Amino acid sequence: ASKYRAFDPVQMHDRRWPGRTIEKPPIWMSTDLRDGNQSLIDPMSVETKLRFFDMLVEIGFKEIEVAFPAASETEFNFVRRLIEENRIPEDVTIEVLTQAREDLIARTVEAVQGARRVIIHMYNPVAPQFRRIVYNTDIAGVKAIAEQGTRWIRQYSSQYPETEWVYEYSPEVFSGAELEVVKEVCDAVTAIWQPTPENRMILNLPATVEMATPNVYADQIEWMDRNLANRESIIISVHPHNDRGTAVAAAELAQMAGADRVEGCLFGNGERTGNVDIVTLALNLYSQGVDPGLDFTRIDTIRHTVEEYNQIPVHPRHPYAGELVFTAFSGSHQDAIKKGFAQRRDGEIWELPYLTIDPADLGRGYEAVVRVNSQSGKGGVSFLLQQQYGLELPRRLQIEFSRVVKAFTDREGREATSADIFALFEQEYLQD
Ligand code: KIV
Ligand code: ZN
Repeated sequence: ASKYRAFDPVQMHDRRWPGRTIEKPPIWMSTDLRDGNQSLIDPMSVETKLRFFDMLVEIGFKEIEVAFPAASETEFNFVRRLIEENRIPEDVTIEVLTQAREDLIARTVEAVQGARRVIIHMYNPVAPQFRRIVYNTDIAGVKAIAEQGTRWIRQYSSQYPETEWVYEYSPEVFSGAELEVVKEVCDAVTAIWQPTPENRMILNLPATVEMATPNVYADQIEWMDRNLANRESIIISVHPHNDRGTAVAAAELAQMAGADRVEGCLFGNGERTGNVDIVTLALNLYSQGVDPGLDFTRIDTIRHTVEEYNQIPVHPRHPYAGELVFTAFSGSHQDAIKKGFAQRRDGEIWELPYLTIDPADLGRGYEAVVRVNSQSGKGGVSFLLQQQYGLELPRRLQIEFSRVVKAFTDREGREATSADIFALFEQEYLQD
C-alpha cells in the first residue's frame, strides 16, 4: 500500500473541491534522445546517447524515441549501435522520427533494420500558420502529404516483416490547428494504416508550441477523443511543450480528458522552453498514491547524470529534484517539520507539514530538510542538533541557544551549518 493518500472524493466533496484525479499512469515515452537532443547547443555524441539510453531503460521507460536517423550520420549510427550491440531489452520499444518524404522514410527504415519492435513516427505540419507561411499549401495539400507519407511507411516497412511495426502520426502544431481539419487528416491516415484494437496505432497530438491555458489543450484532446474515427484502435498521445510554463498542467488535464500516453523529457529538456517534464508528472502521481511505473529512487544521481549529458543545470527549485526543494530555512516551517518528524510513525500515511513527499523515497537524506540562516528559529537549530548529533535540548535551552546561533548568522552573513552549530554549542556549554 502506498504511504501517500490519493485524494479522497468524500473529503473533496465536503470541502467542495472538484473531484477528478488521475488514477493510473499514462504510457510514458521519453524523447530525451530526440526532441531533447535536437534542442541542445551541442547535440550528444553517440557514446553519451548510449549511456543516456541505458539510464532511461533503468528508470523504466518502455518506449524511447532514440533519434531522427535520416537527419545525420551520428543519429543513424547511434540507432545501428543500439541494434547491433543488442542493447534494447525485450520489453523496450525504440521509436524513430521522420518527415513525410520518401528518401527520409527509406533511410529511417534502413536505420532500424533488425530491431524486434519499432515505433515509426511521422509528422507533417497541418496548422494554418504552417500551411500559409511555410508551405504555401491548403488543407488538401497537407492531407495529401500525410496520406502519401503513411503509404510510403507501409510500403518500406513491409520489406522487413520480421520487425513488429507500430505507426505513430503527429499533425504538427495540433495546439494551433482547426480540430475538424486535424480530424480529417488523422482519419485519412488511420484509414490507410488500418489499425485494430489488437494492433493499435498512435495519434500524437502535439502542443508543438503551447498557445493557450492548459484547459484549452485538454478541451482539444477531449474533442479528438470523442470524434476520431476508429477510436478503439488508437492510442491518443500528447506531446506538450512548455512555452507558457504550463506543460505539466496541460499533460495532466489532457490525461483526464482522454489521453493514453505522454511524450516528454527528464527535467523538461527540449525545444525552446522544453518538453513536458516527465519527472514532475511521475512524482505528482507518486505523491498521490499512484505508482508511476518509473523509478526515481536515485533522483540525485539521475539529476547529476542528465546535467552532465545535456550540459544544462537543473534549477535548485525544480519540483522534487532541485537541490533546495526539501529544505526549510524559515523558523515557522522548521518548527512544523520538527513536530511532524517527532509524531511520525513508520507505516503511517505520509503527513509531514511542507514536505509533499518523503525525501528518502527519492534516495535523499534528511540533512538538507532543515538549514539554518538568519530567518531560522529554535526549531531548526534543535532539529539539527538532534538529527546530526543526537542532542535533545530542553525548551529553555533551545530558546537561549538559538539566540547564540542567530548572532552568528547575523555576524557572519551566512548560513550556519550543523558543524557550525555544534561548534557554537561546544563553545557555549561544553568547554570548561
Ligand atoms: O513538438 C512537436 O510537434 C514535435 C513533433 C515532431 C511531434 O516534436
Ligand atoms: Zn516536440
